[in-house]
Amino acid sequence: MAVINADLRVTANELIAEETWALRFQSPELAAQLRPGQFLNILTSDQIDPLLRRPYSISNVIGDECEIMYSLVGKGTHALARKRPGDTLGVLGPLGNTFGYEKPFGTAIIVAGGIGVAPFPFLTRELQQREIPLITFLGARNAARVVARGLANLHVATDDGSEGYHGTVIAALDAYLAMHSIAAPMIFACGPNPMLKAAQQFARERGIACELSLESEMACGIGICQGCPVERHQGERKYALVCTEGPCFDSNDILLHEHHHA
Ligand SMILES: Cc1cc2nc3c(=O)[nH]c(=O)nc-3n(C[C@H](O)[C@H](O)[C@H](O)COP(=O)(O)OP(=O)(O)OC[C@H]3O[C@@H](n4cnc5c(N)ncnc54)[C@H](O)[C@@H]3O)c2cc1C
Ligand code: FES
Repeated sequence: MAVINADLRVTANELIAEETWALRFQSPELAAQLRPGQFLNILTSDQIDPLLRRPYSISNVIGDECEIMYSLVGKGTHALARKRPGDTLGVLGPLGNTFGYEKPFGTAIIVAGGIGVAPFPFLTRELQQREIPLITFLGARNAARVVARGLANLHVATDDGSEGYHGTVIAALDAYLAMHSIAAPMIFACGPNPMLKAAQQFARERGIACELSLESEMACGIGICQGCPVERHQGERKYALVCTEGPCFDSNDILLHEHHHA
């Protein structure tokens, strides 16, 4: 697989929920290579901030266009929101590993918190193409922040109860599983660290297979700076690098700490 580092043409950049955007750019080469779970290192800079690289999950591939989703946080995402169709965007990728959607399991349980929803439209499409059943639990601060596009069999949970289940996404999943039995489930989770920790504990207690996609902060994105360690439970080395060995990990293999926020 060839990593591409190129200036690509933005084709769309639109607001899809409160402070949440979807940006598309054109690249037949990336569109052909990218797989769900992988990410891109994007030069978000413009004239104001010339050197801001940030990692973003691939959200979907539509024809020869690639889409990312982002929520406004700081400098990088505000610079991204200034991009217009026709502008160029520096993109490095594909980076990282993929979700283990080719492992044997019966039903995929997608668990997303906030902008952690980003990788799941692409995973949903791949699962549907393979006719693998899936169910999705999406947690958001409130109804205005729910990003449902590209998802399937969606159960929403909001912190303020303005849509769906009133409470955390893990509590919503717990309540669902108390009422329904799912054959050979596998959880795919992405979101802020407290949510990932809760998903990890939930899966461990019930013996459910679980993969976590980490969104810890990164610098180089390609295994050089050592700036993205995650502590491992087992194996020869105590740490793995999120950018090259992740961002998707078996939840039993890693220890999560608060500094890995998303
Ligand atoms: C593998 C990977 C995939 C990612 N995928 C996505 C994605 O699909 N969509 C998306 O919106 N973001 C994603 N992120 C996070 C993204 O890379 C940026 O960190 C985020 O967009 C904030 O960038 P910024 O320049 O706007 O904020 P900054 O100016 O860098 O930060 C502003 C403030 O927010 C804090 N901060 C920075 N990043 C985060 C964070 N992730 N969570 C909480 N606080 C933070 C900083 O410490 C700082 O105080 C991903 C991160 C990784 C490692
Ligand atoms: S971000 Fe530099 S080694 Fe992972």
